[in-house]
Amino acid sequence: MEDAVKPGLSYRIKAPCKINLHLRVGNRRSDGYHDLESIFLRLALADTLWFTVVQGRTDRPDCDIRVRWAVPVPGGSGNSLGRPEENIVYKAVSLFRARTGYAETLRVRLYKRIPPGGGLGGGSSDGASALLALNTLAGTALSEGALLEMAACLGSDVPFFLAAGGSGPGSGGAAWVSGRGERICLLDAPRRIRVVLVNPGFSSGTPEAFALLDRVRRGKEGGEGPGPDALIAALGGAPASWPYGNDFLPVLMAEGTAAAKAAYRGILGDFAALGADFWGLSGTGATCFGIFTDKGTAERGVDFLKKRWNFVQLTFPLARSVKAVLK
Ligand code: C5P
Repeated sequence: MEDAVKPGLSYRIKAPCKINLHLRVGNRRSDGYHDLESIFLRLALADTLWFTVVQGRTDRPDCDIRVRWAVPVPGGSGNSLGRPEENIVYKAVSLFRARTGYAETLRVRLYKRIPPGGGLGGGSSDGASALLALNTLAGTALSEGALLEMAACLGSDVPFFLAAGGSGPGSGGAAWVSGRGERICLLDAPRRIRVVLVNPGFSSGTPEAFALLDRVRRGKEGGEGPGPDALIAALGGAPASWPYGNDFLPVLMAEGTAAAKAAYRGILGDFAALGADFWGLSGTGATCFGIFTDKGTAERGVDFLKKRWNFVQLTFPLARSVKAVLK
């Protein structure tokens, strides 16, 4: 028997990825997290999520979730990765039910185009889009504050995607992010740039990267740099003069695995040789990005990089809000 689907209760929503143009990390806090100062940029490369309300079946789990991958999954295979309960979308559904009492049986399909464990926030974005879709699907009209509180429970990067993807005033494609990741000031995304993403084919563990940074620093924070005002103002200037950096990059290049050292040296060297205006590492890796102001240079760069690296994607900043679309 086919599942009976309530008319009008099936939604599709995108979950875009991000890069960190800038990422400074403070010392470890007493709660185990680190204060960050970061510039996040949302990109058009996105996962897609479908949410459908299912009626008339009692033999189904209350949230039947399946994942399909468009990208190679390190250590995984087939159409799923891990147990469904470990998926952040499943966790978002459970949290939303607990807070709102929403009890409909759901079928969720997740199509992953964002490489996992790559510093692009794919899982975090899936979690944020799930909250936005559920708020529409359930007709709960929760405030952005209530959704942000739930987002912070799901992970440090989730509030950014929630805030940038909402339709509130000032929704932008970029943000100055501080605190553990929950303090967000939306910014306009740079216009007319192309972003080339290169993932070397391995994932990089976030807790492991933070622990390595702590070990290397032994309590001494990174050096002084430009303050928030100067960093934010620089986003409106030419990428070739951006004063941005990522605290994880020198540490991973000095103390990371042999594969990580070779990959980051190779990819970032390629971006320099290919005429990128700016390049760096996103989050805790392993994805590197190059910023190009010239479309042709970016396209020629992609052709070259595809012969050398596992995952190469040409994309651009996404300025518009992410809305759940009724199917
Ligand atoms: O919040 P999330 O689950 O994404 O964080 C994963 C891990 O990354 C944390 O357990 C912590 O080790 C590290 N982290 C951190 N400081 C942050 C964000 C993440 O130390 N601001």
